[in-house]
Order: sequence, then structure tokens, then C-alpha cells
Amino acid sequence: MKLRMAIVGCGEIAGYVAFLARFVPRLRITACCDIDPDRASQFARRHRIPAVYSEYDALLDRELLDAVYLAVPHDLHLPMTLKAAEKGKAVLLEKPLARNTAEGQELIRRVSANKVGVNYQYRYDSAAYALARAVQKGELGEIYSIVVQVPWHRERRYFEEASWHRSLERSGGGTLLTQASHFLDWAFWALRDKPQSAMGYTASFAFAVEVETLAHGVVQTQKGTLISIVSSMVCAKEESVSIRVDGQAGSAIYREKPLLTLKFQGVKVKAEKPPLRGFHALQRSLAAFVAWILDDRPYLIPAAEALPALAAVEAIYRSAQTGKRESTIYR
Ligand SMILES: NC(=O)c1ccc[n+]([C@@H]2O[C@H](COP(=O)([O-])OP(=O)(O)OC[C@H]3O[C@@H](n4cnc5c(N)ncnc54)[C@H](O)[C@@H]3O)[C@@H](O)[C@H]2O)c1
Repeated sequence: MKLRMAIVGCGEIAGYVAFLARFVPRLRITACCDIDPDRASQFARRHRIPAVYSEYDALLDRELLDAVYLAVPHDLHLPMTLKAAEKGKAVLLEKPLARNTAEGQELIRRVSANKVGVNYQYRYDSAAYALARAVQKGELGEIYSIVVQVPWHRERRYFEEASWHRSLERSGGGTLLTQASHFLDWAFWALRDKPQSAMGYTASFAFAVEVETLAHGVVQTQKGTLISIVSSMVCAKEESVSIRVDGQAGSAIYREKPLLTLKFQGVKVKAEKPPLRGFHALQRSLAAFVAWILDDRPYLIPAAEALPALAAVEAIYRSAQTGKRESTIYR
């Protein structure tokens, strides 16, 4: 049996997903949809997708689908997920879950009968997976500290070609929500913990935009671990993401580039492999979503699992406004 899925939003990330979908054996991209009809048609031609739509409602009404993949601006995450769920479709929703925790909680409440997954694909990155499993199995002992750096660079075209990125109303936030939330999501999953409070600063350098292009935050989890995160899209030269984990028994350092590496210090750990095969984390995330829908094998990020990252981001944003330590919804 194959999963019939439509791609909704034929922009930046959808191109990678359409390409990688070819390497996921039981997945068929049977339709695509974009509010921009030319973009939708070009995308369909490029990826040999048989049916093309420029209206989401028409796609849901007319096409025989098991699932939709939603790669749209953040303000559409909640309404489009709800529409698909009402029609009984499974949803693979691009991250973040929503613009803020109120929307995220509403989404979780209203789709509880449906399978909705959030594509935080770093959970399927082989080194990040191995590190998370080592943390979960207690190989590093009690975890005291996680330090994440996301020193990225975005060109002017990032805001010009997808203008919703500029708007706080449409995106809900800048680099912390759009980029660094991947690694906050990873951290709460690795720790099997939730954010309790946070402090942070945000700034908007280099571009005339409403969202932050630089954020520094510290989050304390319910169990007491301190997570420090620096996220930027204004580094003059993009560098690798790094994650440092310090525990009572040992430490670990993850780097994504130039080569994916994971080094343990003070402990010997046999690295666990991700549950699905594939050459890219995004591909494994897609394959895992397919296995969830067709075989009921758990997907690592059902919607409710994506809420802690959103709660942490929201608390950092609030702290940046108030200048105080802010509690999360998990206080
Ligand atoms: N998982 C990842 O690593 C990753 C990477 C990049 C982006 N993303 C996420 O993917 C989502 C999309 O980001 P992007 O960078 O591809 O944005 P984008 O602007 O390049 O693409 C969004 C597309 O949605 C279309 N669209 C807007 N309104 C629509 C509607 N009502 N119906 C149908 N299509 C509509 C736009 O025309 C555009 O083509 C965001 O949630 C973003 O955070 C995830």
C-alpha cells in the first residue's frame, strides 16, 4: 500500500521534500497546491506531480488523499491543519507547530483524533539521534547543561522572496522560532523534560524587518537543566550548528558541518542508529511519517511533542520584552 500525499505550499522547503520523497518507497506525491498558480504548475512539472491546485479547499474536496504535507507560512499552520483534519486526512506539518502556544494548544486539542506530525527533522539526524538516545539512556548521567549555537546567515532575498518572514503577524517570530526551535525541540526530547522558565534578549540587526534576526536565551527545564541558545541569521559567514551537552558522567559535542560529527568525552557510548534508513534526516522523517500512517509505528514528533519548543521560544520572547525571567506554560 502507498500513502497518497499532497504538498501544500510549493516554496523553499517543499522542493527538498518533493525531491527526497522519491527515495521513500511507499510515498506517492499525487498533487501539489500553491496559492500562486504559476509556482504550483512549475513545481508540478519539475517534480512530475500529476495534479495541481491553487486552492486548498478544492484540493481537499477533489483529490483522493491520505495525507497532506503543509509547508506554508506560520499563520496558516493552525487553520490549514484543522481543515485537513476535518476531512480525515493525516497531516505532516512543517515546524513550528504554530505561531505561539495558544495556537499550538488549540491545534493539539482540536486534532486529537487525527495523526498530525510536526517535521522537526533533526530528531532523525543520525548524530543528533544518537546523542539524544545516549542522554535518554543516562549514558552521560544527570544532564546539567546544554549549549546550542546556530550561527547562520541569510541573504536579503530570504525576506524579499518570502515576505511573510518579515512580518511578526504572519511568522510569529524570527530566527529563534524559525531556525533555533529545531534544536530546542531536540533538547526537550533528548532530556524528556519541559521548559519551566526562560530569560533572553533579541535584536533585529541587518534587515528592516519586524522579527528578530539574533536571539540569546537561557531556559531552565522542570528538572533543572540549563539550556543556553544563541541563534542568528546575521553571521557574516554561516558556520555549523553545534550542541554541547554536559552531564555528571561525561560530555558530548555535536557538529553538523563540515561533516556530521558526534564526540563523547569521559564516557564510552555505542551510538544508536535512527529507526529508519535514508541518507538525509528529512528523508527519514518522511519515511517515519509514512510508517506512522500505514503501519502505526510511532512518529517521533506527534503534534503535542512540538509544544515545549514553542513554549520556550515564547518565554524568551516575553523576557526580551519585560527584562525579567518569564515562566512557561509548564511552570
Ligand atoms: N524543516 C525545515 O528544515 C524547514 C526549512 C525551511 C522552512 N521550513 C518551514 O516550512 C514552512 C514554509 O517555509 P518556506 O521557507 O518553504 O516558505 P516559502 O515562502 O518559500 O514557501 C511557502 C509557500 O506557501 C505558499 N502559500 C502561501 N499561502 C498559501 C495558501 N493559502 N495555500 C497554498 N499555498 C500557500 C506560498 O506561495 C509559498 O510558495 C514554514 O513553516 C517554515 O518554518 C522548515
